[in-house]
Amino acid sequence: MAPFAETPIISLRDASSFEVSKEPDLLDGWWTSEYLFSLERRAIFSKTWVCIVHRSRFTKPGDYISLELAGFPVLIILGKDRIARAFHNVCRHRAYTITKKPIGSSLVLGCRYHGWSYDTMGNLVKAPQFDGIEGFNKSENGLFKIHTCTDRAGFIHINLDAGESLQAPSCEDLVGHAAEHDITAKSRWLTGWELCGAFNWKTIGASDRTGIGTPSPSSASASVMEFLLSVFRGPGFAVDGCHTFLADPTTVILVFPYSNIWATMTGLPVSASETTIRCDIFSRDGLSLPPATEEALKLYTASQAQALQHLYDVVKSIRPTEEPAQVSLLKEHLRLERLAGCEIFPGRREEGRSEGFCKAEKLCNELDKLAKGGSDGAYARTGCAQGGLEW
Ligand code: FES
Repeated sequence: MAPFAETPIISLRDASSFEVSKEPDLLDGWWTSEYLFSLERRAIFSKTWVCIVHRSRFTKPGDYISLELAGFPVLIILGKDRIARAFHNVCRHRAYTITKKPIGSSLVLGCRYHGWSYDTMGNLVKAPQFDGIEGFNKSENGLFKIHTCTDRAGFIHINLDAGESLQAPSCEDLVGHAAEHDITAKSRWLTGWELCGAFNWKTIGASDRTGIGTPSPSSASASVMEFLLSVFRGPGFAVDGCHTFLADPTTVILVFPYSNIWATMTGLPVSASETTIRCDIFSRDGLSLPPATEEALKLYTASQAQALQHLYDVVKSIRPTEEPAQVSLLKEHLRLERLAGCEIFPGRREEGRSEGFCKAEKLCNELDKLAKGGSDGAYARTGCAQGGLEW
């Protein structure tokens, strides 16, 4: 089985059929273009900070979540030192996905294919068949790190850019909003679920029902949310007056009145017309969630997903008349690509296979072949190339 066979990473090379010499009109197909989505993966999700989850989602060392952000498999895990870190959820051996479950808890993450295991800091701790091979160094084969920053309010931001040093995310507005509503890292995660949405991820930040305009962080989701709130009144749980805030680029924070409950809804882009929404419910006082309230929140978030879908159906054939905020990022990335004469993948990691790795991998492949009765197995396809993973 080829790497990524079980994780639908979009092939960036396949998506490269655009003319770098010509400036495309990005507003054409703003809501539906797969070309644009491919560019957004390179220009936004591979190089900008993404507010992805809250620190209180993790309680004890080893707690993790795994998700796909615009096709990039991401693992976020709480280390033994109680620091949350993000990694590419890809085994360094043959690039299979490590954690299959969306949530879990384990101090050791084992890849089920050939038994490579990693600790909560991403270090490779076990590599059967590779141990003792001269030149193979475990310390060079840990999980690929993703830049991770936890802000003062406990929100975790990630940036897939492979560069060594990055500017910290600017999250003063978010931290201010959190302080205003008493959201801290001491909140308690109560429950969570995922919803599938047939809409473009940018619908979440649309500034009005036509989706036209450039949203500002504080107002971006307001009108959408007002609409959403108008379509749902949960029994036994008040959503009227719910405060919403959009944390860049796709996480909406909801604070419910007369309640110690707050929530996040994080849009995880899947394609130009699909977005997964991950919902997490938190409480400030640590009390558990009454079943009726949980049911109300489930109905509420489902109605939000439906309303976003409805909004998308309305706007998808409309060309924005004003330039949305994301356009400058896209144009700047295209400018760099034109200068370079090729597509640029800021998250791309070089494997840099050592001689020891290749020697051990050859042995591993021989054992695979024996186990499979002589077939060439995956090694024939993966080889031991010096190439990188296409992030
Ligand atoms: S692919 Fe993970 S151990 Fe081989």
